[in-house]
Amino acid sequence: MSENFVIINGQRKAVRDQELGFSLLTWLRETAGLTGAKCGCGAGQCGSCNVLINGKVRRSCLFSMEKLIGAEILTVEGLARGNRLHPVQESFIVCGVAQCGFCTPSQIIAAVGLLQENPSPTRADIDKAFKGVYCRCGSYPRVIKAIGRAAAILRGEDWQEEDPEFARRARDLAGGRPLEEEGQVLGRSYPMPDAVDKVTGRAKFVDDYAFEGMLFGKIVLAPIPCGYLEELDISQAENAPGVRYILSYKNAREFRYGPITRDTPVLCDRHIRYHGQPIAAVFAETQEEADGAALLIRASCKETPGVFTPEEALAEGAPLVHPTGNITSRTAIEKGDIDQAFKEAAVIVEAEYYSQRIEHAYIEPETAVAVPRADGGLDVYHMTQAPFSARDSIARYFDLPPEKVNSIQVTLGGSFGGKGDDMTRLLCCAAAMATGRPVKLRLSRRDSLLYHYKRHPYTMNYKVGATKEGKLLAMDIRLLSDGGAYSFHSHRVMGHSVCYTTGPYYVPNLRTEGVVAFTNNAPAGAMRGYGVVQTSLASEGIMDELARALDMDPIELRRINALGPGLPMPAGQILGPGHHFREALDIAEQKIRERLL
Ligand code: FES
Repeated sequence: MSENFVIINGQRKAVRDQELGFSLLTWLRETAGLTGAKCGCGAGQCGSCNVLINGKVRRSCLFSMEKLIGAEILTVEGLARGNRLHPVQESFIVCGVAQCGFCTPSQIIAAVGLLQENPSPTRADIDKAFKGVYCRCGSYPRVIKAIGRAAAILRGEDWQEEDPEFARRARDLAGGRPLEEEGQVLGRSYPMPDAVDKVTGRAKFVDDYAFEGMLFGKIVLAPIPCGYLEELDISQAENAPGVRYILSYKNAREFRYGPITRDTPVLCDRHIRYHGQPIAAVFAETQEEADGAALLIRASCKETPGVFTPEEALAEGAPLVHPTGNITSRTAIEKGDIDQAFKEAAVIVEAEYYSQRIEHAYIEPETAVAVPRADGGLDVYHMTQAPFSARDSIARYFDLPPEKVNSIQVTLGGSFGGKGDDMTRLLCCAAAMATGRPVKLRLSRRDSLLYHYKRHPYTMNYKVGATKEGKLLAMDIRLLSDGGAYSFHSHRVMGHSVCYTTGPYYVPNLRTEGVVAFTNNAPAGAMRGYGVVQTSLASEGIMDELARALDMDPIELRRINALGPGLPMPAGQILGPGHHFREALDIAEQKIRERLL
């Protein structure tokens, strides 16, 4: 028996000499085959790799194996006893905590560690214990309920379920019993079918897949926002230990992709358009070797003047981001006689609103695993919300018939609209095809933040005219957005904005124009709300301004202008009977009065 060992989930396990330099997270995932602890940032910040070390909650990415010899380590896989889940795991199901589930194992470990130290934690104790245990899906209110329930059960107290029917179904699921046939399904709440997998760490996300002989990748990003790649020296990296393949403009296929306009190169084609654009990718026997070799790639760049706001981009004589010009998309709607309506208005209000660029900040970074098949095709395990369009893109890249690409959509960590990009899977597939070996490409937190698209920032100018009774007569709206260096979803996002630009209010005379400009910033793309979040900020803001100008109750102003069945939206769509904005307004008013007035 080896001298070096750790106790993992109650079992002694040897640590080989060559594993002493591994982080505990790498060792758990790659050597012990325990993938419940996840790699979110690899830098001790997000908490998704939490385990208990000698009874204390610790981030496993921060501990090297040589410091842990003899330690007792508990991972989420070690909590259940056979089919019997730990009370914290059961409570997470009964309280419906898990959403995407990527952070769930780490939250469960944090809760178990807290309850071991403090069987009756206060809200402040829970907040403290969960500082740095990030959940981007926002499950915290339910975590607090689940900890309260688990604590009571562990103390041997009776617990009254909030929703006894749902709790019974959840307990059945947690206990491995089939859900009863209940006939009527609609109108009832059921736990997620994969809830047990998520609370036990059995749910497999892309990074949890591993194959014999797999290579690991690392991307290299452009160090300047605008200019030309004069030379890329890969000679040192090519000769670095473990390196098997390097992709750059020198050997990558000329290929462009995009959800609407195919204008995005997989790797920079020598014209650098934003800081963080991928310029090369290194594939090696281990992640550490790939990371090390990527640092040896030398990029000689010539920086040229760029444009960094849409106003700069649209100015006369501005440097061009693309030869076709700096306008990504322009969408407009005009109806009624807006000039006459403003003449008739008793009151006119104008305001300008801004919304900022927003990062999706999902906890699970972009990852793909590609496995070449003997028939010349590929099995691709990837994070996607659109497996068929991803398959088609991969097939187009290799000139393969789509049936040769097996696009496997595995458990997806929260995406918030940000995981529709092809770059990670295409680079991964390219390396797998070139080397004939399985390949994994997982972006580091830094690379993910720098390279991938964000929510569009907007500048919104609203002018609104109304009667003295508050009836809306006209809106004149200008939207301007920074689409970044490539078009991605800009056309559709701005199209949505323009179609919903008045908010849930009927406006008989309307002129609205939305423009997205190319700039030398990171691209903008799909994010939750898809262009409507931005205009909601402005349309609700201008209604408050109008209420102030008219000295009217802002809810009443909304009520008399509310869209409802039979009225047209800005683009002419007539609302059907399922539209209940007025009822929602009544409920919102009641809640506001209860809580604030
Ligand atoms: Fe926490 Fe999705 S459930 S990140």
